This record gives sequence, C-alpha cells and structure tokens, in this order.
Amino acid sequence: MRRPLIAGNWKLHCGPSEARKLALEIRNGLMGRRDAVDVLLCPPCVSLAAVGEIVQGSGIALGAQNVFWETSGAWTGEVAAPMLVDAGCGWVILGHSERRQHFGESNASVARRLRAALAAGLECIVCVGETLEERESGATERVVTTQVREGLDALDAGDWARVTLAYEPVWAIGTGRTATPEQAQEVHALLRDLVGQRAGAGVAQQTRIQYGGSVKPANAATLLGQADVDGALVGGASLDASAFLAIVEAAAVTPA
Ligand code: PGA
Repeated sequence: MRRPLIAGNWKLHCGPSEARKLALEIRNGLMGRRDAVDVLLCPPCVSLAAVGEIVQGSGIALGAQNVFWETSGAWTGEVAAPMLVDAGCGWVILGHSERRQHFGESNASVARRLRAALAAGLECIVCVGETLEERESGATERVVTTQVREGLDALDAGDWARVTLAYEPVWAIGTGRTATPEQAQEVHALLRDLVGQRAGAGVAQQTRIQYGGSVKPANAATLLGQADVDGALVGGASLDASAFLAIVEAAAVTPA
C-alpha cells in the first residue's frame, strides 16, 4: 500500500513573511488528515527556515525545489545538498520541466543532482514528462523512458526507497490543461514498469509516482483514483491553502 504524497511546489512565490502565513494556514487546516496522506511543502530556498519553523513537529515535510551536485566551493548562486539538510529539509524536487526548459538542465545533470541529494540523505522527487509536440508526435513513451534511463539508472535498489517519480506532462503545467485520468494512468503504468525493470517488481510496487500539471480540487479525485497515481505535485493550487487542503482531502478519501 503506497501512501499518497501531496507536495506543494511554490516555485518563485512567497518570500519568508508570505511563506510563514501560507504554511500556517496549511498546518492549521491539516489537523487530523496526516494519518492517511504525506504532505510536503517546497518553498523557495530563502523561505525554507521560515516554513521549517511553522511545520516543525506537525509531520509536514519540508523540501527544496532544486539542488546542486557539488557540496561546496566556488559556485556562486548554488545551494548544496548538505546545506539543505542543515536548513531542515528532508526532500528536494529534481528535474522539474521549468529547470529543463529555462535553465538548460539535462537528464545527465538530473542524475548528478540525484546522486548528491541521496548521498546527503535527502528524499527526492524526480520529474519527467513530455512536451506537447512530443505527445502529438507519439514520442511520449520514448521521452519518459530516456529521462528515466539517463536520469535514474545509476541508482541501486536501496536508493529507490528514497525516490518518488513525478509524471508532469509539460503541456499541462500551469496551463489549466490536465492530462485525462487515462492519459496519466497510461504513463504512470509505464513508469512503474521501468522501475520494475531496473529495481525489481517489489521495489516498483513500493515506489510512489505522483502526477503533476494543473492539479486542482476539481480534478484531484479522478486523477488520484487511478491505480498507479500515488499523489500529486501541485504548483498553482498549492499557493491557496484551501485549494491545497482540498487536494489533500481528496487524496485521503480516494482509494487508488
Ligand atoms: P501547476 O504546476 O500545478 O501550476 O500546473 C505543477 C508543477 O509545475 O509542479
């Protein structure tokens, strides 16, 4: 039985004061729902400490939106995995399509970040997903297979316990356009199969695969009701405490 993981990716929103307020609303609204669902908040780095103070002792996990692969040195502007741990993070998001699209991150760089994050003891959400052009040309399977092969093949079976995959079709992110539950399930099943080929069927059954891309309270239940959808990576709707809480509630009551 895989516990659903609902993660809020706040992207470039919420400096410390706003972040504190949003985290507090989420923490207070979550009372009693943490038994069925894992909840993770990923604010911008500058707000990690503020959110960390609010969620401390609540069971809500804290994560960053990216990490660099070196642990220290002359790398202006970067943040290292041990620093995230020191700042109270237990998680990091890797390979988000906005990092790939706007900052030139590749599958190879995702692999390096992943190794560094795991070495520091972080749990990782690794994002994969195709663009609209790739979907329309029938390349979805090839694209996500390559992303898994090049991004995650260095993992050993034990590492998978700390890896969550997120299927995020690029055409659904921030567009209000969601994959249909069938489209999501099809790719999630493929991803589970790819994990099975690498780490064995047992590990594949334990590995959580989140869906991301315009998840809202109105569509959460049908997406989360798919057999291989084990949670959601939520962008826009995670900035509204009541919308985010409604998605957590959907995960708590929806049998996968
Ligand atoms: P969205 O973002 O929910 O705003 O589409 C999801 C994501 O980028 O993780």
